[in-house]
Amino acid sequence: MADPAVTILFEGQPLACRPGQSVAAALWDHGVKVLSHSPKYGRPRGASCARGHCMGCLMRIDGVPNVRACHTPVHEGLRVARQDAGAAYGRPMQSALSGTGHLLPVGFYYKWFTKPAALSKLFMRIIRPVTGIGRLPDEAAWRAAPPPPRSRDLGRWDTVVVGGGAAGMAAALAAEGRTLLIDDAAHGGGQRREALDLAAAGDGDPLAGLHRLRRLRALLHERDALVAAAPHVTRAPSTTVVGCYQPDMLLLRDAAGLSVARADRIVWAAGALDQLGLFDDHDLPGILGPRALYRLAGRDGIDLRGRAVVVWGHGPDQWLCAALLHARGARVVLALDPTAAPDENALATARRLGWQLRTGLRPLAALGRAGSLAALRFDDGRNGTRPESACEIAVICGRGKPVYDGAYQLGADLVLDPLRGGYVPRAAGGRWDGRTPAGLNLTIAGEAAGATLADLLEEVTA
Ligand code: FES
Repeated sequence: MADPAVTILFEGQPLACRPGQSVAAALWDHGVKVLSHSPKYGRPRGASCARGHCMGCLMRIDGVPNVRACHTPVHEGLRVARQDAGAAYGRPMQSALSGTGHLLPVGFYYKWFTKPAALSKLFMRIIRPVTGIGRLPDEAAWRAAPPPPRSRDLGRWDTVVVGGGAAGMAAALAAEGRTLLIDDAAHGGGQRREALDLAAAGDGDPLAGLHRLRRLRALLHERDALVAAAPHVTRAPSTTVVGCYQPDMLLLRDAAGLSVARADRIVWAAGALDQLGLFDDHDLPGILGPRALYRLAGRDGIDLRGRAVVVWGHGPDQWLCAALLHARGARVVLALDPTAAPDENALATARRLGWQLRTGLRPLAALGRAGSLAALRFDDGRNGTRPESACEIAVICGRGKPVYDGAYQLGADLVLDPLRGGYVPRAAGGRWDGRTPAGLNLTIAGEAAGATLADLLEEVTA
């Protein structure tokens, strides 16, 4: 690690970190991938989304429980600890529950020992500390905490666009009147922009033969420059939407605290979340989706030099992940699923850069060591063979799950469509415009409407 300048205390042990890193990334660089355990069965958990959408990275930080390690920057003397169940018998009992989970129906803790009342009370007293997540904050921590800042009113806008990727930028450029463009990234261009830039700068130019990704990079840069020059667009970077309130209000959070914005029209282009597919132990720390990799390898710069990484799946995100990993010095194993249909240029790139190429595979199980990933076992569809690939990280590139929560809170009419990734607007076609029952002019666009990156690339390369 170059020039470590910050020391944190992890469970009493000093660790040198790069300033500006998140706690999760700093621990990852020191080989600590297990950041927490699931409350019920005590299964190991780690940085899984790196976006504030899961509970895998909740830790006790400077005496405060349930702080997201993926969103907390390191600073000198920061105290970090895993928070496990509050009872001394918690971990052994969680391990026992994990091993006998098949005998315990979901919700057993609600159904068992409900009568008589005395037995129920005793059962609750035993089970609660096992399944709890953390102890109350240290008294010194909450006494020293400054009062939360007053929320700011950002006023009424003609259009608010949520999501700064390709679809969000296009919507902001096309919008009429004063437009606010909100994104949780610090830079413009969406979550793939940084990954594309890093990949393009890698040894051997990993993007050279990946024409569609090169085109995507050019498009994101082009739109970002147009947005920056558009007088009607105001950017709100590093800003997340905390909640949406009918008919037309968004509650936002950035480094300065909470704020409120209202709009005549809202464009929901918040993208998609990773889905890790279904195979045994797919929840082991070390298994990521492409979007989490873009954040951990791009934004956080975790050390990937010499690490064996399997990138499984299909589609452009798989190739972008492989190119990014190559640029960051990882040893790439590209495992294509049976539906993948890469073109000759892409395959030639993989060979030229020395990626190990395997085809026709489906993951069957993740194999762990010391609580985190050690290998993936596949089904290769031939004679029941079960090949394995040793790896510290596996990136599972399948269909993303549209981010629908804000659109739903605003009153959008959504349907569950597994073929389009989850809850999406009723009408297919990658976009939805309409009026909510409360009268808001709402548009859902891009991956949030069920489109894929491949759809977008088809549009821009047509
Ligand atoms: S919220 Fe931090 S890894 Fe998901």
